[in-house]
Amino acid sequence: MGDVSRETPSAPPVTPEVARRVFSSARLPLIEAYAASLAAAGVVRGLIGPREVPRLWERHLLNCAVLGEVIPEGSSVCDIGSGAGLPGLVVAIARPDVRITLVEPLLRRTTYLSEVVEDLELPHVEVVRGRAEALHGRRTFDVVTSRAVAPLGRLLDWSMPLVAPTGVLIAMKGQSVADEVAAESQRLAKAGCSPAEVLEIGSDVVSPPSVVVRVAWADPSQVGWVGAPGQTPSRSKSRRSRGRKA
Ligand SMILES: C[S@@+](CC[C@H](N)C(=O)[O-])C[C@H]1O[C@@H](n2cnc3c(N)ncnc32)[C@H](O)[C@@H]1O
Repeated sequence: MGDVSRETPSAPPVTPEVARRVFSSARLPLIEAYAASLAAAGVVRGLIGPREVPRLWERHLLNCAVLGEVIPEGSSVCDIGSGAGLPGLVVAIARPDVRITLVEPLLRRTTYLSEVVEDLELPHVEVVRGRAEALHGRRTFDVVTSRAVAPLGRLLDWSMPLVAPTGVLIAMKGQSVADEVAAESQRLAKAGCSPAEVLEIGSDVVSPPSVVVRVAWADPSQVGWVGAPGQTPSRSKSRRSRGRKA
């Protein structure tokens, strides 16, 4: 393992016992190194606020790690708007069985992400600098994750074109997500998605539990997303190649 915590003005946060429920003993040193890096380099480089350090485990690392509960084994995962690596890097550390693509437009953040990936030797993680929309029509994934990136409407426009026909969007959201889901329900139905599910996960690890919205295509043979007015429509090959109408 390299030296991701070389900028170390603040002490690394103490690992809570509950972390052992979501990280195997082999992976625990990796998440501890990442926690130390966030508390040091992450703060110095303005990637997280200094006030987040005392609550790094509960509010950020564990809160993101429980996402593993809803990610099927061996999935390809795209985390859009990863920032300093939340939740994508945490999931990558907890779950060596998945392949993770971190998509983030800002150079300062992708530089940091690439450094952590290299230092922690995470060969199953790819860092892509760019906006999620830049991958539309080029890549799809089993799972598309995000946290604190955009309101649900915009998030759907950015994420759904990346969701494989049998895949899912899993967005971490706050407790008030029900209103956002209600506002988007008609558009989801029109776009051929199943009704969005709101799930509380990780209640045995974090309090309050993490809240996620899960959206899947209703019929994998009928996949295509039309963005909100003013957005570039993004359609997957699946529907086009079958010559079906939108
Ligand atoms: C508030 S930060 C959240 C970062 C991280 N997910 C977290 O929870 O700490 C939102 C991130 O989304 C990124 N972002 C904004 N628009 C994006 C887009 N269209 N595609 C991908 N990432 C985007 C920003 O650069 C920023 O890093």
